[in-house]
Amino acid sequence: MTTTQAGIEGFATEDRRFDPPAELAASANVREDAYATAAADRLSFWEEQARRLQWAQPWDTALDWQPPFAKWFVGGKLNVAVNCLDRHVDAGNGDRIALHWVGEPEDDTRDLTYRELLRQVSRTAHALTELGVQAGDRVCIYLPMVPEAVISMLACARIGAAHSVVFGGFSAQALVDRITDADAKVVITADGGYRRGAASALKPAVDEAVKRCPSVTAVVVVKRTGQDVDWVEGRDHWWADVVDRQPQSHQAEAFDAEQPLFLLYTSGTTGKPKGILHTSGGYLVQTAYTHWAVFDLKPETDVYWCTADVGWVTGHSYLTYGPLANGCTQVMYEGTPDAGGRDRWWKIIETYGVTILYTAPTAIRTFMKWGEELPGAHDLSSLRVLGSVGEPINPEAWMWYRRVIGGDRCPIVDTWWQTETGAMMIAPLPGVSSCKPGSAMGPLPGISLDVVDGEGTSVGEVGGGFLTLDEPWPAMLRGIWGDEQRYRDTYWSRFEGRYFAGDGAKWDSDHVLWLLGRVDDVMNVSGHRISTTEVESALVSHPSVAEAAVVGATDPTTGQAIVAFVTVKGSVADDISSGEAFAQELRDHVATQIGPIAKPKQIHITPELPKTRSGKIMRRLLKDVAENRELGDVTTLADPTVVNAISARASSQPAGGSPQD
Ligand code: WT7
Repeated sequence: MTTTQAGIEGFATEDRRFDPPAELAASANVREDAYATAAADRLSFWEEQARRLQWAQPWDTALDWQPPFAKWFVGGKLNVAVNCLDRHVDAGNGDRIALHWVGEPEDDTRDLTYRELLRQVSRTAHALTELGVQAGDRVCIYLPMVPEAVISMLACARIGAAHSVVFGGFSAQALVDRITDADAKVVITADGGYRRGAASALKPAVDEAVKRCPSVTAVVVVKRTGQDVDWVEGRDHWWADVVDRQPQSHQAEAFDAEQPLFLLYTSGTTGKPKGILHTSGGYLVQTAYTHWAVFDLKPETDVYWCTADVGWVTGHSYLTYGPLANGCTQVMYEGTPDAGGRDRWWKIIETYGVTILYTAPTAIRTFMKWGEELPGAHDLSSLRVLGSVGEPINPEAWMWYRRVIGGDRCPIVDTWWQTETGAMMIAPLPGVSSCKPGSAMGPLPGISLDVVDGEGTSVGEVGGGFLTLDEPWPAMLRGIWGDEQRYRDTYWSRFEGRYFAGDGAKWDSDHVLWLLGRVDDVMNVSGHRISTTEVESALVSHPSVAEAAVVGATDPTTGQAIVAFVTVKGSVADDISSGEAFAQELRDHVATQIGPIAKPKQIHITPELPKTRSGKIMRRLLKDVAENRELGDVTTLADPTVVNAISARASSQPAGGSPQD
């Protein structure tokens, strides 16, 4: 069966294509000719998009490409925050709502216009300067989904400091690693935030971390919940004390197009997270263009909602920079989808008249489980474009999203990209593409990619292999912070002269592209990227653990679930009377080392791990066990009897806790 007939999971996709309604095709921001225009002269195409922004000094050269190092819009100067705020106020749109902020507790909302957001960002920029932050410094942001997160990011951008946002679900240890690697001077945090109906704490993790981070001279604390906090005089400052008294206007300096804008740490195939470096001009050009093109954004009338947390790249590019550069109105929601009822999202869409929704397949699958009565009870007719990101969307979820949420009238844009790519790379265009359920369709105008085989040879128009990018793009990472060699090794060494994304992909017989998931040791759990090695290192750091092997097993809701196989040290093996109590202890240990998002869903305590004669752990077999499959070829095992022991243990153990608790 070909992909065209059956999709990737035996699902008939051909007769379920979504063709753009005539009205949308006629009114869309981007038409089909964009592909040809961009292909004819890629650099002119990106220069054209760059003119959508406000430059204090125009660039001399669109691209300086010394593989694998790119500089875009060389010689150009701009201020990213001015592009996201002042520009819109100056154009007479100061009274437009920038953020409809929705707190988790019901009725806890705040609307901020562009004018008000500019004032807040200006004050915060002054406050950071007063605290000693200068252009080129790094500021760590560890906040819940409150407006101050966006304000802090833009204030850093305004003064030319790079932010490093750390997701609030990461532990104190993860914070230490990230603050130390970035050598951050200031940490911006909150007393806590609201999640699942209760106030959770953030400041204690910062207190614990900063003790071990001598680079940090000041901690700024947003009062969100009013809970008690420990206080270090001289180091800690309430946000209201340092920000509110500052002048509300701020003269912004223009910075080089290649001024670092942010670092964002992400998991790779080794234990140590990588600080992905993004710079200013090219990044803003591509995030603004793709946000406008892929969502067919009409800033005057649309109400856009991206449900991602600012701790991930989606929250950077499609909550902070892209939407604000485009001057649109958006919703920002603090809490979980079930806070105040499992129809909370649908209530928000109804209340604010959301027109564009951008979310992850894992959320859609969760809503499918909760039943279509919940969205069905709300008026979702304002919606006109639906987006998906973070992992492959299975055709069933795509169809449900289209029918139940989009009322069969909204195009679905499945967008493939990465922390490293900075902005969308593969996605349909809503007014142009005839979308197949579950496919991201093809590269966006101005993007060049190639699917190659193991030798790096292009598979051509039809066929599967490894996804590579064979031309630089404006929002591409500029490197891994402090580790040039790792940048070369990780992305540019597998295939000569090409960026290797780590994903498998396949062109079907219509030359439509299907993303097939990671081909390396990176797991994708609820759209969050977690390295198997990182979780293994966390497990092995527990005093009772001898060895650990971690695999991502297919999970119907979260895409993948973390499954760990652990052997314990001989001296303690006899003391572990209850496997489940010990497994829980290990889960908590992983939460302390990395964060609750990295907790294994299942932990199997086994007498031995399956290894080859050369001592390599055979993960493929463990994956078979974790997914309850017949075991594949075991002939290369040093001791084939090991697998019997593991499978017996695996099937007799309970599944364990939720990965998200
Ligand atoms: C990895 C990047 C992009 C922002 C959120 C995740 C997977 C992402 C898709 C998609 C299939 C996808 C890839 C990629 N991925 N979007 N639409 N279809 N897979 O960013 O944490 O850097 O993870 O997420 O495997 O390599 P990230």
